[in-house]
Amino acid sequence: MRVLLTGGLGFIGSHTAVELLSRGFEVEIIDNLKNSKLETLKNIKKITGKKPKFYKTDLLNKSALDKIFRNNYYDAVIHFAGLKAVGESVEKPLSYYRTNIDTTLNLLDIMKKYHCKNLIFSSSATVYGNQDGVKLTEKNQTGIGITNPYGQTKYMIEQILKDTACSDPEFKVTILRYFNPIGAHYSGLIGENPNDIPNNLMPIIMKVYTGEIKTLKIYGDDYKTKDGTGMRDFIHVVDLAKGHVSALKKSLKTNATNVAIYNLGTGKATSVLKMVKTFEKISGQALNYEIVGRRPGDLAKVYANPKKANRELNWQAELTVEDAIKDVLNYLLKPAADLKLKLPVARPHYSISKAFSLLGLKNPLVKLGAHPSRTQKSTSV
Ligand code: UD1
Repeated sequence: MRVLLTGGLGFIGSHTAVELLSRGFEVEIIDNLKNSKLETLKNIKKITGKKPKFYKTDLLNKSALDKIFRNNYYDAVIHFAGLKAVGESVEKPLSYYRTNIDTTLNLLDIMKKYHCKNLIFSSSATVYGNQDGVKLTEKNQTGIGITNPYGQTKYMIEQILKDTACSDPEFKVTILRYFNPIGAHYSGLIGENPNDIPNNLMPIIMKVYTGEIKTLKIYGDDYKTKDGTGMRDFIHVVDLAKGHVSALKKSLKTNATNVAIYNLGTGKATSVLKMVKTFEKISGQALNYEIVGRRPGDLAKVYANPKKANRELNWQAELTVEDAIKDVLNYLLKPAADLKLKLPVARPHYSISKAFSLLGLKNPLVKLGAHPSRTQKSTSV
């Protein structure tokens, strides 16, 4: 089975590539490297022993896309490519609409032209808009109260895909609505490393930890939640990647439905403050943070009801927030540990001797316990 991943060198795409390759799928990747790095390709090979065929191509370049499909056959496409920085989308709405919508239209045109009839799309819980505090099921309404152009593009693309599938009963579409992906591969070789300005919680915590950002602003402690800070359904990126494998396997079966929609979340919500405290505990380093006012458009509690995916995809999130934090730390510290250098940036809460002794260990700071993803045997397609 050969699968094309658009945006396959990004955070979620690269982890999905690893999970697919380790289960015997053939993977090819298109990426314009705007928000990803070529090094990720090498690291995918280090993890899996297989190097996917790579095209440095922008999906806006339709003739280049046409050429790729003319020369290759794909059983399915997983469409990750797109712009995703919420704040930037508010400043540059036209760029977001053009990039996210036009690339998807190009992809659909070309897929239809070459009779590739199976598409899995990276959507987001953002399509549920302003529904607060309810365990969201796929039947909850979408499209009302979306507060930014990025979110609107996800909603619009869902509509485009549903209409496309409706016009062609053989065209199978799977829409995966992600909750809040965090973590890194436990090898420490791939993780989240955006070139764009992050406004998501974990990339900011990571930058506060490394000293690139001075202070984490916690947006509001007056929500009606246990500690007053916002709560989200944080899902480990490896679990999320495995969700794609399960969705792909299901959609490749002949009796799969024409349009299938799944929430990929854990069903549990963790507060922002709890996340910060857990990160501090596991890293052994205090994080500089201050409580500021609420961020416009934020909700108190957003979490998934993932039962449909559990049932129909035979998939469920297995890793915890603690696992994700350990993997993030391992990812951040791996380059220094490999080079046996001192920690990359000044860490006021660290003594250098502690840092060196930790870096002398194979896995500095992070003791990776056995958990399902690390002990699980891969099954082939
Ligand atoms: C945000 C977007 C959503 C998008 C999703 C994934 C908004 C309103 N929503 O969701 O459209 O699909 O990212 O990209 O932007 N937080 C802080 N300080 C920070 C950053 C975040 O306190 O510096 C808090 C937020 O207030 C929130 C939680 O952390 O309570 C999670 O925020 P974030 O990671 O941005 O994700 P969402 O708000 O869930």
